[in-house]
Amino acid sequence: MNIIKVKDYTEMSQKAAAYIIDKVRVKPNLKLGLATGGTPIGTYQNLIKDHQEHGTSYQQVVTFNLDEYIGISSDHENSYRFYMNDHLFNHIDIPIGQTFIPNGNADNIEAECVRYEQLIQHYGGIDLQILGIGSNGHIGFNEPGTSFHSKTHVIDLAPSTIKANARFFSSLAEVPTKAITMGISTIMNSKEILLLVSGENKKEAMKKLSTGEISESFPASVLRNHSNVTIMVDQAAL
Ligand code: F6R
Repeated sequence: MNIIKVKDYTEMSQKAAAYIIDKVRVKPNLKLGLATGGTPIGTYQNLIKDHQEHGTSYQQVVTFNLDEYIGISSDHENSYRFYMNDHLFNHIDIPIGQTFIPNGNADNIEAECVRYEQLIQHYGGIDLQILGIGSNGHIGFNEPGTSFHSKTHVIDLAPSTIKANARFFSSLAEVPTKAITMGISTIMNSKEILLLVSGENKKEAMKKLSTGEISESFPASVLRNHSNVTIMVDQAAL
């Protein structure tokens, strides 16, 4: 694992955006895996700024998000579709039809998981996957105990994840308890992974990731088995 240490969230967001922009410039039809949550917001702001100032184009880029809540509509302000449109897609030139997020409102959720997995295959797999990390070590919404062999699937969110995500909702009771997430093997099949780790509350997770054992009880530890992972981590998380 290649570890890039940065000063703070601002520097991480600038460097992560520059990293992605380089890849898009080299391969304009990049298949880009995206994350939501608090961590990548600054990165997306920098991608937008660069698009506006330097014209980096996303017209041929195809994106796949890691996960989506089950049980809230895609136009709900806390759906990950809403988040992605609001924080990135509406402000760059990517055709919205090239942005894929699991459909948490599908009539047949199991069939939706299969469809999403096949969609990624259809496009030849993900070139670069952006990840955040949960303080319990989850990647995507693969909570502790998820099989390293898992494909896109339905997950019951851990109580700690529900609590952490409640900050985006008006009450704890409103936070969905289930989601569709890319599986761990789906993530591991990405050709390259960029993991962003920022803030004091990620310190313990960062320590376990770099020194703990590789185990399904700490999902992010699987990344140590991947040959092309870069971690950008700020001082607060070190
Ligand atoms: C988001 C996702 C999650 C988050 C993780 C960290 O799509 O899959 O794994 O990356 O929960 O969230 P933040 O960045 O809010 O600390």
